[in-house]
Amino acid sequence: MNEYAVIPQPASIKYTEGNFKCEGLPAVFADAGLFENEVDVFNIQTEKNFDIKVCTNNPACIRLLKTETPEDEGYRMEIIADEIRISSATSVGMFRGLQVLRQIFLSHFDDGVLSIPCGVVEDRPCFPWRGLMLDCARNFFSVEFIKKLLDSLCLHHVSIFHWHLTDDQGWRLPVKKYPLLTELGCKRYDSRERSYSQHFYTEAEIREIVAYAAARHIEVVPEVDLPGHTNAALAAYPELGCTGGPYKVEERFSVFEDVLCAGNDGLFDLAQAVFETLADLFPSKYVHIGGDEVKFDRWNECPKCQKRITELELDGAPQLQSWITYRLTGLLAKYGKVAIGWDEILENTEKFPLPENAVVMSWRGSEGGNKAAELGRRVVMSPNSSGCYLDHKHIDDPEELGRKWVGTVAKAFHLTPITDEMGGDAGSLVLGGQGNLWTETVYAGKLAEYLIFPRICAISEALWTADKNRDIADFHKRLLVHRRRLDGLGLLHYTGPLE
Ligand code: ACM
Ligand code: ZN
Repeated sequence: MNEYAVIPQPASIKYTEGNFKCEGLPAVFADAGLFENEVDVFNIQTEKNFDIKVCTNNPACIRLLKTETPEDEGYRMEIIADEIRISSATSVGMFRGLQVLRQIFLSHFDDGVLSIPCGVVEDRPCFPWRGLMLDCARNFFSVEFIKKLLDSLCLHHVSIFHWHLTDDQGWRLPVKKYPLLTELGCKRYDSRERSYSQHFYTEAEIREIVAYAAARHIEVVPEVDLPGHTNAALAAYPELGCTGGPYKVEERFSVFEDVLCAGNDGLFDLAQAVFETLADLFPSKYVHIGGDEVKFDRWNECPKCQKRITELELDGAPQLQSWITYRLTGLLAKYGKVAIGWDEILENTEKFPLPENAVVMSWRGSEGGNKAAELGRRVVMSPNSSGCYLDHKHIDDPEELGRKWVGTVAKAFHLTPITDEMGGDAGSLVLGGQGNLWTETVYAGKLAEYLIFPRICAISEALWTADKNRDIADFHKRLLVHRRRLDGLGLLHYTGPLE
């Protein structure tokens, strides 16, 4: 093949004469003490993907070089007849370069021979936040599956794994001070199977995933959704609700009336214990506090919530949510953490404005992101209208997997995190974007793969590659090659119409 055909498209590729050729896989060399983690991960990945050992007495080799600048995710890769040189000032930049090489290996290795056109790649990303969210509450995914996913995500320079750990249908995070969250809060009746399932991640498993991701230069951002989407927590601790229950870990998929009681200080005791746990387990400076789809019916009727409204001199129950956001953001700050919330955290903020350092994740279209940037808040774009909702079908076909809405690969490719509506330099507040896989109808890893790929490939290009280098026809051409790589990784992926 006479092109690299990688995804996302690099900033610049210049082909030169000739080919790098090697029988078997070439060994990687770096000066002692340099890029050790990156070399280890690359070797583990390539040996796993090709099922053969690296050949250390090959004359052809890969050399990793450290530069002084620039201190970013950029790298330079030069491929000549008997050597591949990757240079970067940072370990993350080197890792990104090695993942591009891993892609090229996956497509240019035939019959035991690696043959790569000579050339020079210079590259760096547009946005730092290039994420994927996986909902592990509606369906539980194993540690092994998440590791496989992380190995596939880093191939596309995904930098954030947003881990949705709690919802109405399951609480997957162990919290020492609240043991019933995982004793009762993740035990769910499945009426189809007519049996219970009970899954959560142990602290050791969470640390294992965080370390595995970190070695692949992916930051894990945990989400504990508060104060709505909390039926699983209420099933464990009914005294935290407005009515006192009874509640149950939900089998159905909906937006439920029951939420944590805003008049009960127990909400903040729970939040404090959760944040203490998250601070211990997750090095990321961000904690996602959810905040989406909170119904106000219970707060309207609850005497404790009404008392709170009076004490705080609020204009009604909806303003309780912005007060809760304000309190949670303050609690997180004690642990040196920054809150992220779904775009509802922008609403009902007349009395308690959204704290300045809070980050808004725009999901109901781009409007939330536009408004947040206008208010000077940082933004992550994951609009459900732009192919970022990976639970939607790939195409409008009753035979297709996914929920009733449609988000094509082309739509995902055309994601534009900085919108036309963002005036002045508001675009500088946009950290990036992400794809979200909600898993109400996704009960197995294989189904998750099918919905994630190749839409995440398109999203990664929208977030990594400069607009001037983005071309849908060229993306489609590269995707034909890239599908072979996804096959090589053992990923189930959608191969139908892209528009
Ligand atoms: C969401 O999709 N409820 C954030
Ligand atoms: Zn209440």
